[in-house]
Amino acid sequence: MRQHAQPIADSLVREVAKPAKQSLDEVVRSADLIDYTAEEGARALGAGELLTSDSFPGQTRNKLCLVSKVPLGVVLAIPPFNYPVNLAASKLAPALMAGNAVVLKPPSQGVVAGAHMMQCFAKAGLPKGLVNMGSEIGDYLTLHPLVSCISFTGGDTGIAIARRAGMVPLQMELGGKDVCIVCSDADLDLAAKSILKGGFSFSGQRCTAVKLVLVVKEVADALAAKVAAGVAKLTVGDPKDDVDITPVISDSSADFIEGLVEDARAKGAKFLTPYRREGNLIWPTLLDHVTPEMRIAWEEPFGPVVPIMRVDSVDQAVAHCNANNLALQGCVFTRDVNRAIAISDAMETGTVQINAAPARGPDHFPFQGFRDSGIGSQGIRNSLAMMVKIKSTVINLD
Ligand code: G3P
Repeated sequence: MRQHAQPIADSLVREVAKPAKQSLDEVVRSADLIDYTAEEGARALGAGELLTSDSFPGQTRNKLCLVSKVPLGVVLAIPPFNYPVNLAASKLAPALMAGNAVVLKPPSQGVVAGAHMMQCFAKAGLPKGLVNMGSEIGDYLTLHPLVSCISFTGGDTGIAIARRAGMVPLQMELGGKDVCIVCSDADLDLAAKSILKGGFSFSGQRCTAVKLVLVVKEVADALAAKVAAGVAKLTVGDPKDDVDITPVISDSSADFIEGLVEDARAKGAKFLTPYRREGNLIWPTLLDHVTPEMRIAWEEPFGPVVPIMRVDSVDQAVAHCNANNLALQGCVFTRDVNRAIAISDAMETGTVQINAAPARGPDHFPFQGFRDSGIGSQGIRNSLAMMVKIKSTVINLD
């Protein structure tokens, strides 16, 4: 994949409008992920366990239990359009290291990049037929009796898949409404920089994008001004030119984003940057004075729109975070580490970042959503663990 990184990255630029440098980073990051998975898998899966019966009360030493990890069978991997390569690799690599075969259903937008990646697996010498590509998510794949595990990243289609899937392990990541809580003692420059990067990279089309800023009133004006100054400097246009903001994935996605923006406008949000759209290219939009009555306070735009809601207290911010059905990641900015940990403990969300924007990586960290944001934990070690089943062989001694 490293040798063929540029053509794969070029496909990402063309298919999903990911900026050029980020596209190349995605391919290299995926190669690194595969390397790490190979190393971790060799150790984590190569070692079994021996239990002796006399370690349980009342038992004699007449039984030895050999515990091993065996493959599940066929893993169905369904990555989303925003990481057609990396989120395919994060499913494929642990599945293969654990001894499984894989059916990959690449996203419709991103299928060429996915096919390029598959060619790399073939060139690397993978046996023919071990990794296969499917063309539709539908019931045929998700309900197929030979599918032994489904690893899905995407939208709430995942909930429907989970409800129907039956007795197979599920790994689902279904998006988030990642909040950014800014306390009165926060480093506002750091918070503003993180909101900019976290909210607008890949035009906000990341499950871990900052999707709502909850800032206490004392510092709200200062923070909003800093973020607005940064937004004004973002470049907009063609992903080949490596600009910050590129077209969102589809017209229907742009329509959905616009619906959220117009709902907020109708309910009194203040626009710190003017809303502008040409086709599916949406200029970065910063909304202030967002209220809980607005849809954008709860729904994820998956686009370059960051709403700011001013709160009376951190408790109010945490309550808003916990009231959402989406709970993937969140972040908190404060200079007080004790306070940060207390807030993190109170936030019922899969990961809390302290003094940085939400992010999945590094890719060996656990990654999971609570509530409707998903089921099962990802990250290399957790993915390896869920793509095997435990098999015991008991030796009964005379
Ligand atoms: O949207 C996919 C999610 O996994 C985000 O990943 O690396 O952009 O934090 P990342």
